[in-house]
Amino acid sequence: MIEAKKLKKVFKSRGKSVEALKGISFTAKDGEIFGLLGPNGAGKTTTLRILSTMLSPTGGTAIVEEHDILKEKAEIRRKIGFLSTETGLYDRLTPDDTLKFFGKLAGMEMTDIAKRADYLFDRLDLKKDRKRLISGFSTGMKQKVSIARALIHDPSVIIFDEPTNGLDVLTAKTVTDFLKEMRDEGKTVIISTHILSVVEKICDRFVIIDTGSIVAEGTLPELLEKYEAVELEDIFFKLVPERRDA
Ligand SMILES: Nc1ncnc2c1ncn2[C@@H]1O[C@H](COP(=O)(O)OP(=O)(O)O)[C@@H](O)[C@H]1O
Ligand SMILES: [Mg+2]
Repeated sequence: MIEAKKLKKVFKSRGKSVEALKGISFTAKDGEIFGLLGPNGAGKTTTLRILSTMLSPTGGTAIVEEHDILKEKAEIRRKIGFLSTETGLYDRLTPDDTLKFFGKLAGMEMTDIAKRADYLFDRLDLKKDRKRLISGFSTGMKQKVSIARALIHDPSVIIFDEPTNGLDVLTAKTVTDFLKEMRDEGKTVIISTHILSVVEKICDRFVIIDTGSIVAEGTLPELLEKYEAVELEDIFFKLVPERRDA
């Protein structure tokens, strides 16, 4: 489970400060896919980086699997699988080598790494490519290797930033099906996206976030009723004003 409590983040660079998060709170429960939906610059990546202890908030805190992000970073890192939008893969390794490397970093035994890798490559449809160099891979294949890498240690909390961004429909479906499977195993899955259909297809609950604030929260049926809307797009355009810079 994840509980964000009044998270704030102010970035300061070259004398200017940007209030990326203005005190956001939400709860993502076990066995659900929770979505952060918002336009570019809304604060989605900042939120997910804070939850995964990669970035410190300037205010508020969050509890991830009973651990406080401010005090228990190491415990949290062991329990989460974090996928960022930068792939962070070594081009000169194969998927097999990549999982061995990151499995060892996570303190796993070789036999467990091998078992887990077989499972992940099977589920992500990478079996036939596991011994090829990543340098020759398409964006979609690289994304699937990054996902396998993030999940090698079988984390109970899955934090994925824009997991289907830039993927073809088939690869995107492989990824969303796998996210649903992990949700059904009882894991907490939190994803960010700017794509409305991803939320409609896989998120059990979500927040709409804009300029560092939550502007709506609920299930899709709840929000459709509340805003007397036919589809998510109607709600999104009602709550998120169009901006030239976005
Ligand atoms: N390292 C940083 N330094 C300064 N500003 C940042 C930094 N990271 C993000 N921001 C700013 O914080 C805001 C939220 O960014 P981000 O969380 O990346 O949004 P999203 O992922 O929703 O597109 C934006 O205005 C962005 O420019
Ligand atoms: Mg982002």
